[in-house]
Amino acid sequence: MKKKLLVLVLAIALVISMAACGSGGSDTSTNDEPATTEDTTDTSSDQPADSGEKLKVGVSMPTKSLQRWNQDGDNLKSQLEAAGYEVDLQYAGDNEIPLQVTQLEDMISGGCKVLVIAAIDSTQLGSPMEQAKEKNIPVIAYDRLIMNSDAVSYYASFDNFKVGEAQGQFIVDALDLENQKGPFNIEMFTGDPADNNVNFFFGGAVSVLQPYIDSGVLKVPSGQTEQAQCATENWNSEKSQARMENLISAQGYGPSKTKLDAVLSSNDSVAQGITNALVGAGYTKDDFPVLTGQDCDVASMKNMLAGLQAMSIFKDTRTLADQTVKMVDAILQGNEPEVNNTEDYDNGTGKIPSYLCDPIPCTLDNYKELLIDSGYYKEDELQ
Ligand code: BGC
Repeated sequence: MKKKLLVLVLAIALVISMAACGSGGSDTSTNDEPATTEDTTDTSSDQPADSGEKLKVGVSMPTKSLQRWNQDGDNLKSQLEAAGYEVDLQYAGDNEIPLQVTQLEDMISGGCKVLVIAAIDSTQLGSPMEQAKEKNIPVIAYDRLIMNSDAVSYYASFDNFKVGEAQGQFIVDALDLENQKGPFNIEMFTGDPADNNVNFFFGGAVSVLQPYIDSGVLKVPSGQTEQAQCATENWNSEKSQARMENLISAQGYGPSKTKLDAVLSSNDSVAQGITNALVGAGYTKDDFPVLTGQDCDVASMKNMLAGLQAMSIFKDTRTLADQTVKMVDAILQGNEPEVNNTEDYDNGTGKIPSYLCDPIPCTLDNYKELLIDSGYYKEDELQ
């Protein structure tokens, strides 16, 4: 009811202002009403009336150095342009937080009507978030939830807990933990501690593995089981390689030394560093520990084909971009965006209405169907 009243008040205000200015295409960005999770539809009046002027959408990606964000950026740009919007797409160098902040401020002052943001650090966007709120610019948190800001209107992502659960379950099945006594040795890796998704990836995986750790079927010889101990700054492959090398020397892992049965990795860039370290320690496809990943990066798919990574998670960035474009479109047309989760993603200021796409485990058994037949990759890209 409150919203209906607000829309009515805004509509009346718009009619009055149009009559006063004698023009269509009024810009409500000066409207003092803050954007909140419950109030994101009042930008409909920004839609230019037959003026042919394109509305601008700001898209902020965290880094150019990981494959997936380049795909996300490209997909969002092309799909938003196809939907008739102008796009200001920016990459924040290689995870440079101050640069992401400046780029967002520029998008706001440059007239973007909606911001789509994949945050480097979920908690460090305070100033542009406040500016967006002041200017009533709706924010869609893309892939990673932006924390502690009531400027976030919607969240579009994959089901991140399910990603972790699938990785954990893959290890359970591959080692047949239900039927074996073990003990099997495992080490665990996750991603950047400032990325809110890590809580879900790691939490999901541990929720599946913990019972086997508790019963002694799985052992973590390093004792490093806390999320902070398993983190990998910036999801950087060199950092995961260095940690894996340290674990190898500290625990004496090797094909004919202390056995290492599995390594949990939350994504592919981290898995690639782990693979390098394991290959360096003498492991081959014949004795390679069960290693998980996420994203179906080309480099990891090549490793999988060579027997040096067991699985990844396919998160079709085309689907996420498609869903995000629908959200942008709905917001700018004054409609309610479609969401499918209103319970699980609380950013500290309240539950953020979310659309979660489905992650799909990918192995040698189904990669052709998932990646090649769907046109995500060409077969020769993986050779
Ligand atoms: C994304 C993953 C990605 C990781 C590193 C996470 O927030 O959800 O898909 O592998 O960041 O870029």
